Parts: sequence; C-alpha cells; structure tokens
Amino acid sequence: MTSSKDFDVESVLSQLTLDEKISLIAGIDFWHTAAVPRLDIPSLRFSDGPNGLRGTRFFNSVPAACLPCGTGLAATWDKDILYQAGELMATEAYSKGVHVILGPTMNIQRGPLGGRGFESFSEDSYLAGKAAASIIKGIESKGIASTPKHFVCNDLEHERESSNTVVTPRALNEIYLEPFRIAMEEGKPTCLMTAYNKVNGVHVSQDGTLLNDKVRDEWGWNGCIMSDWYGTYTSKEAIEGGLDIEMPGPTAFRNYREIGHMIRTRELHINDLNDRVRNVLNLVKHAKKTGIPENGEESTKNNTKETSEFLRKLASDTVVLLKNKNELLPLKKSEKIAVIGPNAKVASYCGGGSAALNAYYTTTPFDSISKKLDYRPDYSVGCYSHKYLPGAGEQVKNGDSTGFDMKFYLEPPTESKRTLIDQYSISLSSHHLVDYYNDKLPKDRLFYIDFEAYFTPEESGEYEFGLAVVGTAQLFVNDKLVVDNKSKQTKGTSFFNCGTIEERGTIDLKQGKKYKVRVEFGSAPTYTLYEKGGEYFGGGIRIGLAKVINEEEEIKKSVELAKSNDKVILCIGLNGDFESESFDRSHMKLEGLQDKLVEEVLKANPNTIIVNQSGTPVEFPWLNEANGLIHAWYGGNEGGNAIADVIFGDANPNGKLSLTFPKKLQDTPTYLNFRTEKGRVLYGEDIFVGYKYYEKMERDVAFPFGFGLSYTKFEIKNLKVTSSESELSVSVNVENVGKVDGAEVVQVYISNDNGDENVIRPIKELKGFEKVYLKSGEKKTIDLKLRVKDSVAFFDEYENKWSVEAGEYHVLVGDSSDNITLKESFNVEKSYLW
Ligand code: BGC
Repeated sequence: MTSSKDFDVESVLSQLTLDEKISLIAGIDFWHTAAVPRLDIPSLRFSDGPNGLRGTRFFNSVPAACLPCGTGLAATWDKDILYQAGELMATEAYSKGVHVILGPTMNIQRGPLGGRGFESFSEDSYLAGKAAASIIKGIESKGIASTPKHFVCNDLEHERESSNTVVTPRALNEIYLEPFRIAMEEGKPTCLMTAYNKVNGVHVSQDGTLLNDKVRDEWGWNGCIMSDWYGTYTSKEAIEGGLDIEMPGPTAFRNYREIGHMIRTRELHINDLNDRVRNVLNLVKHAKKTGIPENGEESTKNNTKETSEFLRKLASDTVVLLKNKNELLPLKKSEKIAVIGPNAKVASYCGGGSAALNAYYTTTPFDSISKKLDYRPDYSVGCYSHKYLPGAGEQVKNGDSTGFDMKFYLEPPTESKRTLIDQYSISLSSHHLVDYYNDKLPKDRLFYIDFEAYFTPEESGEYEFGLAVVGTAQLFVNDKLVVDNKSKQTKGTSFFNCGTIEERGTIDLKQGKKYKVRVEFGSAPTYTLYEKGGEYFGGGIRIGLAKVINEEEEIKKSVELAKSNDKVILCIGLNGDFESESFDRSHMKLEGLQDKLVEEVLKANPNTIIVNQSGTPVEFPWLNEANGLIHAWYGGNEGGNAIADVIFGDANPNGKLSLTFPKKLQDTPTYLNFRTEKGRVLYGEDIFVGYKYYEKMERDVAFPFGFGLSYTKFEIKNLKVTSSESELSVSVNVENVGKVDGAEVVQVYISNDNGDENVIRPIKELKGFEKVYLKSGEKKTIDLKLRVKDSVAFFDEYENKWSVEAGEYHVLVGDSSDNITLKESFNVEKSYLW
C-alpha cells in the first residue's frame, strides 16, 4: 500500500476512470466510503459521534467510552480539558478502526426544546465555537479527521429534512455561522457535515453560496464536505454546490448512469466533479497517515483505568452547583442520608439518537453515592419519570447470562421449518436494526427474531411490559399474550421518529417464581405503518419492563424517608428518550409527578439536595424552596461517580452554565416560533438568542448564562485593558480567598456605547474566557488577547459585510453573565467594513 507521503492526489485523480470518480463521491454503506484498490485508495470508516465512538453498528455495537453531552462539555469552559476530550475520542477512533469522527455537534440552542439541544454546546456563538475548536484540535492532533456538524441552522428537529429556516443575514452570520467560523479557523477540521434543512429557501447540502462561497472562499477552508445521512437531495445541484460525499450509501443521487450521462452531455462540468473527487482524495491521504487499516477490528482496548479517571474528572467538571444555601453542601459521609428519585438508580448517561452509544459501563447516582458511605442509604423511587419502560434486557436471564437469547430466522414463528440465520445473547433492550447486515437476508430485509429469557420478580405484584417497534411484535409471559404491537399499531416517536408508541400490557407475577418471557418480532417489511420510501431497513424493537407502582404511595414513602434521615439526595430529570433525534420536546417541565415529589420532600426535609440531569433546561417551579441544587447534564460513563464526588466534596464544582435556565417556556425567545410551520421555521428572535434576549428584555431567569457556584470563594480584581488597532489585551488578577482548592472562570463580555442608534445590539456579548485552577490562598494573573474586530463587529446587512464602528466600547468582567464586577473602556478610532 502506498504511504500517505507517496499518495499524490493530482496524479491519482488523473488516473481515475469516470466511474471510479463517481464511486468515490458517495458512501457504499452506512459507515464506509468506496475503495479503488488498483490505485491504493482504501475504504474509509466514519463513526458517530459527538460524545464517543459508537463504531460501525447501531445494533449490538462494540462498547465505547461515553463522554458527557455537549452542553455539559461546554459547561467546563475549559479549553485544555476539551482538547484532552478530543484526544480521547481520537484514541477511541483508533480502537474502533475509524478514520473520521462525525462530530462535534455545534448547532445553537435557540430555545430549550430542541431534541438535540443536549448534543450542541451553547446558546452563545463564541462559547460554542471555542468549545468545538478545542475538541477538534484534540481529535486532529492524533491524525483523526473531525466533522463539525450540522452546517448550518439545524437548531430544531421538527420536520428537519424539509424545514426552511427563514433567518436574516445578520443573525445567520453573527449567531449561526460564527461558531463554525471560529471552529474551522482555529480547529482546522478535516471534514464538515451539512445540515438536513434549507436556509432561506435552499437545502444547505446544495447551497453553493454557503459551501463554496462562504466556507471555502471566504473562510479559506479546504476540507471535505459530506451530507448528513439521507440529507442529499439532488445530483447536479449538490455536486455544483460543493457537496463532496453523499452519505450514507448505496447512493441515491450519484450513480454512474445519471452522473456519467450529465458529464458526457456537458450538463455537469467535469471540473465540478473533479473538485469533489479531489477533496475526497485529500481526505484519503489524510486518513492514510493514521495507518488505520481498511475494515479494521473494533475493540474495547481503550477501556482502561486512565480512560475512566479522565472521564471522571471531565464529568465532575461539567457539574454546575446552582444553589447551596447555608453551605448545605458538601455533605459529610457521617450523616444519615436517603437517596430518593426516579433518576437515582438509572444511569442517565447520554442523550438519544445517533449520539447514543453502548458505554463500556455506566455508573448510577445511587451506586456511586452508596460507595462513599459505610452503609446502604435508604432509597425510594418516589415516582416514575420514564417515557419508555426501563429496558427488560437487564432484568431477565437466559441461562447464566443477563439478557435475551435472540434467534434470527427467515420465516415467521407460524412456519414449522425455519432457517436460523443468526443468534445473539444480549442484555441491551433497544435494538436499532437499521444497519443490521447478514448476507443471507433477502433484498427486502424481511426476517424474524424470537427473543427468549426468564424473569424472576423480587416482589409480588403487577408488572408492566412494553414494546415499541419499527416492524411488528408480540410479547408473551408463560405463553400468555401480554403486549400486542402487531394487530393494531400507533405511530410514535421511537427509532428516530419512525416507530410506534410503546404499547404496554400488565400481568400479576409472584415473587421468586420464574416466568418465561418470549417476544416474536417481524422486521420492517411487516410494519403496518410502513410508508413507501421510508428508510427503515431492518427496523427496530425495544422491550421494556417495570413493576407497577402506586405513585401517591411512593411519594408518601419518600416523605417518610426524608423525615427520618438527616439529609436527602433527590435525583430527578430527563433521559435520552425525551431528548433525542428527529423530534423536539413539547414542553419544558419535568415529566410525571416529579415536581410534586420534589415539593413534598422539600417540605418534609429542607436539607435536601436536588440533583437534576437533563441536557437542556427544565422548569423548577419549587426553586424558591430548594436549598441545594446541582445540575449534572448527561455525564457519560462516569456521570454517577461525578455526581457523588461533587456531593461529598471530593470534587469542588467548577462548571458554569452553557445555557440560560429560563423560569418557564413562555419566557423564552422562541416561544412563538420554535417549530416548523407549513414547511418553514422563522428565526424571529433574530440575534437575540439566549442571554442576549433575556438581558435586552430585562426578563428574570432561573439561572443566568455563565452561572455556577463553588465550595470556595474567588476575587477577581485589577482589570487592565489596553488596545491597539487590531488587538485588545485584557488582564485581571484572580485569587482563591476560600478554604478549599477550586477553579474559577473569568468571563469577558464586550458592550458598546453607541446605543441602538444604527442597529440594535445586545447589552453585551461574550468575547473571551479563561478557566483558572487555584489552590486555597493562591493568586494568578490572567492575560487574554482578543481580536478587536471579532470583539466589536456586527454584520451590516445593507453593506452585506461585517462592520466595525468607531466609538467607545466596554470590557466587562465577571464570574457569570449577571455578575459583572469590573468594567473598563477602550476606543476604536476608525470605522471599517470587511
Ligand atoms: C444525524 C448525524 C449522524 C448521522 C449518522 C444522522 O441522523 O443527524 O448527526 O452523524 O445520522 O448516524
């Protein structure tokens, strides 16, 4: 095989035949590109995604390191640790044979409801851009290609493929393009993924003004652009528009017959095709440097002590301490503590959709807290908060293994002669079979799976089973039909919004008795809600199981526990079933009876620490009564340990909110226009996204952008600002004046004194930050160099250029967007445009 050094892109390009060229500009399957062995062009492997490397399969994927979700990563405000997080992703890529990582996700949370809000970094363009740049640099430092996504304005999920984002040029440039510009200029990613949606009438994956003119010509970036999965919509326009690779394969728009014909008839210029191929070959050259073989093995060899230690530190740095009245926290291990809540015994470790992965292991708050104590704390679930019943796989056994025995057949269970084509024993309960492959499968991928396992209840009572599918399924307990998701099916949001609701059924079971649980599944072609043209492939199935509880009784039990313990840790929040891909949340409240549970427990014991886990904000109606509140996102493998470390002071919390937490949905900038209506979504809030909106409107929020407490105290003093024509130097002293070691984030905002005369402007905008670790009593000087034009410019729509206006500006420094303690001014002498 030629080395990367000897791989001469222009020479290879000149030797490719037309059909080879066309083959290179589309994937061959879900995760790979085409090879041309005669010219030593290997097939490349792509893999999701933003919080770890799932590898090449949704179904039965090889376990991986799971990092905290994007909003959590940005809440570290720590460029160094994010760089290391990028390095870890690259190491994972080597162990999964992956050349190209499909991440980071870096869209903007216009509002709190975005289904994939958890994946992206921040409501603020600068923080999002800097966080992405650090991760990209870390990934690329080890030779792996990164792919920031989804370029651009995929800030909601609702009807994402057909949604037309109607946005002003000013907001497009200042809010939505800006994070990509920062990340691409600083991080120099090798790839870029386009968004599904249109922007101002044109699908981004074929918009030459964005892909060719903006990204390549204006920003000078020369990497490889791929579409999101099934996000290519045309042949000619997309090639001319600058889209290098259609994903996934096999291609729908780039076959030889069509493209070859267009080239021969000069309908499509050969130079446009060559430009696409050249970018793919450059990516191949880049990938060759890694030495990662074609179709390499996927392993778990990176599941090491070092990986776990790093993930634990990373996860604890994401945690934001929101309330700590009377120094309720950290708790002492000697205190008598009860752990309550629906999220205590489950690991809400990542969001849903393509970001979800099968983690090496997970940690739950309950287990991690218990490990710190000499006794097993009292526990009650309080209420349920799930959208789908908890996975049955982890609760059942087949032989000595946890999980179901799965037998794959070509014929349905009604046939006496069946051809067994595959068999697994898997403890997972959700099987997305979209990329399940078996060479014995017929073209339409019709197959059947029989699941079998035994369930032995720990308590007698009523149990509920659930099935959500793309396909059909029935669940039997001791041969009695309990759930029927076959005879009558109802559309829901499971499996990327393609599947059914969860059909449920209940049955009385006796403690200690062994019950046979059997599920008969038919793949996607049996789906009665099958829509022609839907990309269902093998389909999917999720099997759930939970004991039926009387939630009012559970709340009473929790109140009793709260009264009989010194302190309570109350774990609430969302999970990856609510925050996922292809749909948005419909409200901002906690699910089920959680608010009631919190209110009752707080009344019973004010010494309650509430731990909320969600990727984006939820409403806290009981906030005034709460004395201790921690926000812990989805923390990855080590999420539970990180929560416990913070609660007991083994880690001093230092995260700061990457998003404003509004009081209620009606207060948010996108309350009137978040979703797609009749094919378009209006970005009516314009540049006033996040804190820029709340500040301008003088609207009270639950917790402001950039906010987060510590167990120690810091003083930020002596702001000095000097400026030249191009550079702004900002220096401050930070001192840890408290009793424990900790970290503070110095936040630098810029405001201008020109008022809103010419154009309306935010009260202030984040333009710099630095995290500093200080031992108790330690002092450091922080020096920041900022580019003047990036710090003061706005996008002038009349001129269609960025504009710097002469005048007086202010540097505002604080430890949160609403706690500015220092202010200095500087002047810009000359106005200019670019
Ligand atoms: C997502 C992408 C992801 C791709 C491959 C799409 O549904 O939008 O972010 O990389 O699938 O899983």
